[in-house]
Amino acid sequence: MLVDVLALTACLQPSSKRFYCHFVSLLALLPRRQEVIVVTTSTVDFFSLELPDGGLLELAADFSKVYRPTRYARRFVEILSEQPLDRCNVLDVGCGSGIIGIFAAMKGATVTCCDLNQYAVECAVSNAARLGLRVAGVVSDGLDEFAKRRDFDLVVCNPPSSPGQVSPEITPRDNGELGRFLLDSVLAGAPRILAPNGRLLTCSNSEQDWSTTEGTLAANWAGYRIVADVDESFNGLAQFPPSQLDAWVRSGVCWLENGEVMHNVRYLFAYR
Ligand SMILES: C[S@@+](CC[C@H](N)C(=O)[O-])C[C@H]1O[C@@H](n2cnc3c(N)ncnc32)[C@H](O)[C@@H]1O
Repeated sequence: MLVDVLALTACLQPSSKRFYCHFVSLLALLPRRQEVIVVTTSTVDFFSLELPDGGLLELAADFSKVYRPTRYARRFVEILSEQPLDRCNVLDVGCGSGIIGIFAAMKGATVTCCDLNQYAVECAVSNAARLGLRVAGVVSDGLDEFAKRRDFDLVVCNPPSSPGQVSPEITPRDNGELGRFLLDSVLAGAPRILAPNGRLLTCSNSEQDWSTTEGTLAANWAGYRIVADVDESFNGLAQFPPSQLDAWVRSGVCWLENGEVMHNVRYLFAYR
């Protein structure tokens, strides 16, 4: 019996979810007697975000190697959607798969995406390219690689908030006992790399100890403005293990509401 074998290497860096739809339609055209073997060489997955203006931001990544955007990233996008960013020089610190920086680039900003995770930086650059945009990518521990810059109009950072080292694969460094390492290094270092009227957009949550954040803001910034102050549950955020949530509830920085563990998140602009 004649068996035609069609071996395809899919998922290498497919250009979009549409790639799969076209692929599946092509399969339907094959004669019945043919056998199809699909060889997948990586676990690239997609994340889509409907934008406030009705557009779509689609990202591709192996989300076992980089953070999948969460509700926090969505909130950053919402906040930035109300900001004029055309021709602004923007640095996205801890860019992950690139969602925030790429959105800024969609709004006309000149964007640099940086992360300690090299794969994250590659994702941000390639995701931007798939959307016809260009962002610069830099591997950097916090702001280390930007010590000589003084020209960013906006530094944006959605920092990790888990203490310690959650996943060596995703974040190759310990984030400190209170999960503040990146937040603190950005709060302390961003004023030095901003242009005179530059701003920082970041968030700080209750388990990171808000009074510590207030103190660091007062020590390094001329002022700040909270733009969103949200109480919400950890529901759906798999990166926070139950033992960690229990510890936060026991220490009083998080609380229970209708059986769900809650925390408070404050998103703020800081001014130099
Ligand atoms: C909460 S994720 C945010 C990812 C992305 N910006 C988003 O909103 O989906 C935090 C990111 O910070 C990165 N990160 C953690 N510690 C870092 C450090 N010391 N320097 C640079 N990036 C760091 C992690 O690799 C991760 O990509």
